[in-house]
Amino acid sequence: MRKPLILVTGATGKTGSAIVAQLLEQNWPVRALVHRRDARSERLHRVGAEIFVADMYDPDQMAEALRGVARVYYCPPIQPHMIQAATAFAVAARDAGLESIVHMSQWLSSPTHPSPMTRQTWLADRLFATIPDVSYTILNPGWFADNNLRVIGFAAHLGIFPVLTGDSRNAPPSNEDIARVAVAVLQDPVRHAGKRYRPTGPKLLSAHDMIAVLRAVLRRNVVPVPMPLWLLYKAGIMQGESKFAMASLRYYIEDHIQGAFEWNAPTNDVLQVTGRPAEDFETTVRRYAALPEAQRSLANTIREAAKFLRTPFAPGLNAKRYERELGLPQIGNPRFAMQDERWKSEHAGDGHHSHAVQDRRLNSHDHNHRSENDTPFRTAASGVAGGTE
Ligand SMILES: NC(=O)c1ccc[n+]([C@@H]2O[C@H](COP(=O)([O-])OP(=O)(O)OC[C@H]3O[C@@H](n4cnc5c(N)ncnc54)[C@H](OP(=O)(O)O)[C@@H]3O)[C@@H](O)[C@H]2O)c1
Repeated sequence: MRKPLILVTGATGKTGSAIVAQLLEQNWPVRALVHRRDARSERLHRVGAEIFVADMYDPDQMAEALRGVARVYYCPPIQPHMIQAATAFAVAARDAGLESIVHMSQWLSSPTHPSPMTRQTWLADRLFATIPDVSYTILNPGWFADNNLRVIGFAAHLGIFPVLTGDSRNAPPSNEDIARVAVAVLQDPVRHAGKRYRPTGPKLLSAHDMIAVLRAVLRRNVVPVPMPLWLLYKAGIMQGESKFAMASLRYYIEDHIQGAFEWNAPTNDVLQVTGRPAEDFETTVRRYAALPEAQRSLANTIREAAKFLRTPFAPGLNAKRYERELGLPQIGNPRFAMQDERWKSEHAGDGHHSHAVQDRRLNSHDHNHRSENDTPFRTAASGVAGGTE
């Protein structure tokens, strides 16, 4: 029997590209939705993905992208109006009669979080749950290992590791493990319908714990360098990060410092969903240490030193003013995760590590035709969701 076609949005991004690769390795037909044709999309094409160029804000293009598709990995663009892209997708998905959706959400997803991005993520969580007859699964990963390892060059060549978050800890998931969870769900959506998963690495680590691993893998001394926000903005923008992403990061750093990523972490979700334990941080570091830019050479050292010395002189960001000028909606009483009792209870460690996606009270008006025991969207119990192969 032919396997159903899977659309991967954000296919040139960190999790999207890993998901495309893993699905293709397992012989699934994949349509990779890309923003533009470039070297990254060319790589996806070479390994066997069908390339579809679309703007996720364009409802017609999204409808076209979904033609013939049964299952979707939806990865929101990190942009000020991301809820508009989510709405365009929801409209197209409803018309396309999809079997299943896997949504890349956030650990912190909440309607009352101070970050406009996180509040929009929560809205998308809920919006997709209203699409009828779809097996719907949410991924709530926390702070990715990639956030810390993107600067492997500084550690490898200059022996420094920027520390943003003091002594607070996180169990960082790798892009590959997040992808493995998404792929397992996409392959058997009925089993995971109505669940949300919080993939983490196997162990809580502080920045100093990470440095110890970097020292061992890189076989050199690496020292912590506290990085203030103003310098982080300059470094991020110099590396091509958007102002919105950088402005959003300051909230997540505060959450990190307050211990939100330690809350009931690590989870067992990677093992539970994929049957394989989450990879440890050392394994992830070894992958980054093998990148060409991390190899010891004079050229690499000069490049990293030049980057480091240029950073204080790069354009900065006034994050508060930037956000004010965006004119995004504000809410009355924003709360970081650790001050939000609802968020904390939704992230309660229950030993099962998967949680019903929906709070029925918030959705009952959409589903008042259903009986009390029905879930508000298609689940394994309903027996009508897309088949397994
Ligand atoms: N990083 C973390 O620690 C963390 C933690 C928890 C959750 N998350 C969530 O992870 C998600 C990001 O996932 P990721 O890191 O895998 O993605 P990513 O690397 O940021 O990639 C985003 C992808 O979306 C594409 N894209 C952007 N705008 C588009 C548009 N208008 N139309 C079509 N494609 C568009 C980009 O293409 P171009 O590059 O060509 O524009 C890129 O391929 C976010 O929603 C974030 O909330 C991240």
